Amino acid sequence: MSQNTEHLRTIRDEVLALTETELVSFRKKEGNFPVIGEGNHEARIMFIGEAPGRNEAKTGRPFCGAAGKILDDLLASIELNRKDVYITNIVKDRPPNNRDPLPDEIALYAPFLDRQIEIIKPEVIVTLGRYAMDYIMRKYGLDFEIEPISTAHGKTYETDEVTILPLYHPAAAIYNRDLIDTIKSDIQLLKKYI
Ligand code: URA
Repeated sequence: MSQNTEHLRTIRDEVLALTETELVSFRKKEGNFPVIGEGNHEARIMFIGEAPGRNEAKTGRPFCGAAGKILDDLLASIELNRKDVYITNIVKDRPPNNRDPLPDEIALYAPFLDRQIEIIKPEVIVTLGRYAMDYIMRKYGLDFEIEPISTAHGKTYETDEVTILPLYHPAAAIYNRDLIDTIKSDIQLLKKYI
């Protein structure tokens, strides 16, 4: 087992051992799984979403429902495969009714994401939606460059460590099919890093 895999498993064990919070109690009550992440443990490109939905929490796999189908199509449009990239979320347990994650939930789970980034050391982080964008931009000291996702999407932000590409969340395209074309065009920027 590679060192990265070993370190990522430690993260999984620590998330599993979290003591009661609303999201952990909900996970246990529903017989759900935490969703840690999936893909290449040495990936150059990491995708970060918001939080698991129903299908994800049932299976323990990120983006495996309707939003995941859209993400797969987007990856296919630039000839990328899930196994080439690493896909995760900020929040590792499903919020009830898919509500937005609360600030203290982001604060609880973000250190796990930070460690995943530290382990995998991606060259490019693709943020999916506003929560991931805000968190990652702040993490890399770009607080003052944060714009609404409607203007930030499809721009690349360079830092010393990583390039950040904010995209609209694929789930937004489930209800607004016009957005698919926008995300498809934005994701073309990744070709340069494949
Ligand atoms: N939405 C997310 O943000 N993450 C998932 O894993 C699934 C849906």
